[in-house]
Amino acid sequence: MAADVWARVDGYFEDRFVQNDPVLLEVLKSSDEHGLPPHNVSPCQGMFLYILARSICAARILEIGTLGGYSTIWLARALSDQGVILTIEANEKYASVAAKNFVDSGMKDKIVLLNKEATLALQELVDKGVEPFDLIFVDADKSNNPAYLDLALNLVRVGTVIIGDNVVREGEVANALSQDCRVRGVRQFCDDLADNNTLKSTAIQTVGSKGYDGFTMSIVEQLQF
Ligand code: DHB
Ligand code: MG
Repeated sequence: MAADVWARVDGYFEDRFVQNDPVLLEVLKSSDEHGLPPHNVSPCQGMFLYILARSICAARILEIGTLGGYSTIWLARALSDQGVILTIEANEKYASVAAKNFVDSGMKDKIVLLNKEATLALQELVDKGVEPFDLIFVDADKSNNPAYLDLALNLVRVGTVIIGDNVVREGEVANALSQDCRVRGVRQFCDDLADNNTLKSTAIQTVGSKGYDGFTMSIVEQLQF
């Protein structure tokens, strides 16, 4: 089955379920105009994140990897009234594009953007003893996924849901010999999820306008000591 069919079908669903959302279209346009890589989630995936966050009544969301803030805005829209999303972006240019997108989207008051290397930002959150998060979306540089998971597990409660984006990588996740540091990071991340007996985890493969990829989904069943 060819990638053009996946994209066409994604377009079909997008036309029905996401339709014209001028705010989000503007975010994609500004990200593109500033030369950001097209690594945002697709519109249907954005709606999936929104529905997931609403389903669990998320009031505190942590996103690792902001890029232009497209998924951040989807997740921010799902927050309860007093809710907040902390989003971490190491790249200064991406963070400045995202910051402007947060203002333009009217969602700025619900979003805290930390323009820092994610391991540093996460360690600071741990040291500060911040309240645990309800939902954690891991979507930054994939080679560091294991470190992000390690730190993020100090910021959870029983019931926290953790999503890891882009774990299939056109099937390369199943290639034990891959020398690609992103694939190796994702494979270690999956091993760490599997070996962690405080979590239940699964992975869902996806096709669509973003090609062949997928995500992990985990829930914290008990706290680790
Ligand atoms: C890549 C990263 C992403 O977060 C994404 O959604 C797609 C691709 C990448 O690094 O290749
Ligand atoms: Mg991604």
